[in-house]
Amino acid sequence: MQTWTLITGASTGLGVEFARLAARDGHNLILTARSKDKLDALARDLASDGRDIVVIPADLSRQDEVERLWAEASTDRRIDVLVNNAGLGSHGDFASGQTWAREMQSMTVNMTALAYLMKQAIPQMEAIGKGRILNVASVAGFTPGPNMAVYHATKAFVVSLSEAVAEELRGSPVTVTALCPGPTQTAFFEAADMGGVRLLELGKPMSARKVAEAGWLAARIGKRIVVPGALNKVLAFLPRITPRQLTTIIARKVMGKR
Ligand SMILES: NC(=O)c1ccc[n+]([C@@H]2O[C@H](COP(=O)([O-])OP(=O)(O)OC[C@H]3O[C@@H](n4cnc5c(N)ncnc54)[C@H](OP(=O)(O)O)[C@@H]3O)[C@@H](O)[C@H]2O)c1
Repeated sequence: MQTWTLITGASTGLGVEFARLAARDGHNLILTARSKDKLDALARDLASDGRDIVVIPADLSRQDEVERLWAEASTDRRIDVLVNNAGLGSHGDFASGQTWAREMQSMTVNMTALAYLMKQAIPQMEAIGKGRILNVASVAGFTPGPNMAVYHATKAFVVSLSEAVAEELRGSPVTVTALCPGPTQTAFFEAADMGGVRLLELGKPMSARKVAEAGWLAARIGKRIVVPGALNKVLAFLPRITPRQLTTIIARKVMGKR
């Protein structure tokens, strides 16, 4: 039985690394993002005998596009791995920093599209008797994030949804993993206007390959949460033992610009 791995946000950064890892492991790929040219180039790069690669461009900030993506991807194909990786954020004060359109884009791509694809994928995976869902969250999901309030809130949603659904699926052949990276070397910071943010000076951002490898391995073994890197593990753990208000004050400083 031929099965497929669907990867969102496959045009750059972590998504490209997930695609490379999946290709290395012999998976057939469905690659999606908005940038068709980049997806086509990646598909050409990864093409080899015996592996099929399909490119379906889609704007995941639009529900009709998310639904079209799932319909096109899953009609006549059995998807047994879903990598919900597409995501974006934007730096700035909540009240005055960003337009509503931009905040909506973060919320719909990071939360709504991810949840929709999960909800469609799970029954199909259960029907074929196997499934791995890898949701890319962030260490941002463990703390409120002044200066990036909506982004942190969307990632808290991803962590919470992933853990809850993973528990609901206990005993089923389908697992859900939340990958919670800290700063990683991708185009994300530039897109989010994060130049000068103190967080990025705490240590060298991890390579996208290493972060993707940690997530890919964790999903393969069905681990629920994975935080790659020692400093990120500390960032994820500290909020558990620090009073919530103090955590938020520290986060404001760390997420502020020099
Ligand atoms: N880099 C970090 O430091 C870091 C840390 C923690 C978590 N993360 C998370 O890691 C994931 C991957 O990000 P990255 O670091 O690899 O950043 P990136 O290089 O900016 O990649 C983001 C991906 O999301 C896609 N995307 C953005 N808006 C989209 C939309 N409206 N519709 C469809 N696709 C869209 C982009 O493709 P197109 O522009 O072609 O559509 C791109 O492929 C995100 O969920 C991010 O929140 C990143």
